[in-house]
Amino acid sequence: MDYTGLKIPTHVAIIMDGNGRWALERGKKRSEGHLAGYENLKTLSEYIFQKGIKVLSIYAFSTENFKRPKAEVDFLMNLFVEKMKEYSDYIAKRDIKVLFSGKRSEPIPKKAIELMNEIERNTEKNSSGILNVCINYGGRLEIVEAVKNISLLVREEKLKIESITEDSFSHYLFQDLPDIDLLIRTSGEVRVSNFMLYQLSYAEMYFPKAYFPSFSTDEFDKAILTYNKRNRRFGGIDYESKNH
Ligand code: IPE
Ligand code: IPE
Ligand code: MG
Repeated sequence: MDYTGLKIPTHVAIIMDGNGRWALERGKKRSEGHLAGYENLKTLSEYIFQKGIKVLSIYAFSTENFKRPKAEVDFLMNLFVEKMKEYSDYIAKRDIKVLFSGKRSEPIPKKAIELMNEIERNTEKNSSGILNVCINYGGRLEIVEAVKNISLLVREEKLKIESITEDSFSHYLFQDLPDIDLLIRTSGEVRVSNFMLYQLSYAEMYFPKAYFPSFSTDEFDKAILTYNKRNRRFGGIDYESKNH
């Protein structure tokens, strides 16, 4: 679709949900759903950056996803280690910087942590866009970690309490990114499941029925058209309406 004349969100966030149900409906294993999700992510993210979106955050694995059966957790961690290198090379060729949000410690495998550090180093000079991959990520965890880091600085007298503002707080989150303009959660679930709680304050939200492996570039176009129909007021009033 031609995006000329449309409002383009700066920061899009996607909760990539429904891989398991996508597989179930096709008589496949959940793991096949995750693989199909990965293949879709490649095409979709390339398209999103091509269309001029500057920041894309994706929810790949939550802190709560460790509750799943060990076989599924192991499969997902291996998938990450096996595919993330290829995927980041692919996306970095488009001059995209890759960042990771989430706690980089146990139970995340050491291999995965090394890979994240390496990818961030290799792509740090890229400047056409940012891909923020959320793994072992929780929105509450992110806020609590930020509070802990701020507290340490205050205790060491490196930071004054009076200087802490809503803007400066973002600096202590896993990554300092602009606010989210558009949140998409696939699979029809209408909840945020602990995703980017601080950054979502005034995000427009879109909940398509499609499972993530079927959330095509055409589906993304529909999300952008819906976003363009939304009237974002940020607590103010609608200056376009005639009744004020
Ligand atoms: C999203 O798909 C991928 C991850 C959470 C890792 P799900 O695995 O949650 O798929 P459903 O929701 O069970 O269909
Ligand atoms: C959210 O999906 C996490 C990711 C997509 C990575 P879940 O499938 O884990 O969320 P719930 O359990 O349905 O809320
Ligand atoms: Mg799910």
